[in-house]
Amino acid sequence: MAKKVILDVDTGSDDAIAILAALASPELEVVAICTVAGNKSIDKTTENTLRVLDLFGSNVPVFRGCKEPLTKDLTPSRWESSPRKTLIIDGEEIQIHDDYLSLPPSKRQAETMSAVEFYLKEVPKISEPVTIIAVGPLTNLGVALTIDAEALCQNVAEIYIMGGGVSITNYSPSAEFNIWFDPEAAQKVVNCGVPTIWVPLDATHEAYVTSAHTARLREGSNPWCEFAANTIDQRIMVHDALQPLAEPNAGTVHDALAVCAAIKLDVLTNCFERHLSIGIGGAADGQTIVDPRVYPLEPNCKFALGADRNLFAEWLLSALMR
Ligand code: BDR
Ligand code: CA
Repeated sequence: MAKKVILDVDTGSDDAIAILAALASPELEVVAICTVAGNKSIDKTTENTLRVLDLFGSNVPVFRGCKEPLTKDLTPSRWESSPRKTLIIDGEEIQIHDDYLSLPPSKRQAETMSAVEFYLKEVPKISEPVTIIAVGPLTNLGVALTIDAEALCQNVAEIYIMGGGVSITNYSPSAEFNIWFDPEAAQKVVNCGVPTIWVPLDATHEAYVTSAHTARLREGSNPWCEFAANTIDQRIMVHDALQPLAEPNAGTVHDALAVCAAIKLDVLTNCFERHLSIGIGGAADGQTIVDPRVYPLEPNCKFALGADRNLFAEWLLSALMR
């Protein structure tokens, strides 16, 4: 029987691929998608999510979520990240996430109920415990946990989270973007008692895909294959220029690895029970601190430090080309 999942996304280029792969996977039944601000504003991440669903021909309900993090806006200095390098081609900045995905505007709207209300009022009524795959900042879950943790957690079996990094960070010297964006929400999720499986940059940077993969994807007959290939190629271009991986012509598709892990946990390697805490404020704002000691604190999550690149790439291609 397919696993019932809720995707929590800030769409976003890799979120778009994750959504398509989840919808295309018979092992998963996507019951809803919640949006959150992160890569872009909530208006844009919601519109982008609807565009991806239109492309797939899916009418899965979309619940619009939080437009800002729990408390970070109260301290403007926390928004300073490291200086960024940019990729300029023909005078135009090429970003890893465009404001809007290059797909037709959606005619559909998000539901009138908010993502947080959905988590608190509707998730408890779902016929079996659900899996949440959260691949953006964790604000929606953080707010729902603040309002009524019991209501949220009673019917959630597990939460897969794309976020964090121990040996690799991308937004500050200490932090990965999703966790950097809302560290307080991330700590609430760690504390909530539902089992969490963390898919950090240490794993996603091992699970890169190459332009040889996108060439194969382009041959697929599904209407989303070309869009997916173009989207991943843009990521490869930005990675090559600004954040090179172990080989050239390679890019990450972070969020899709979390979807893959929800289907095939063995795609994650060096994935063990570990003790995780989140840095709040200062130089460690948003850092995922995994207790490295010989006698660590009691484990409170599963945290992966690697991934099986071939397993991931072949899964992704077969899902998108199915
Ligand atoms: C994460 O941040 C976002 O930019 C991506 O969509 C991904 O979820 C990677 O750090
Ligand atoms: Ca994301």
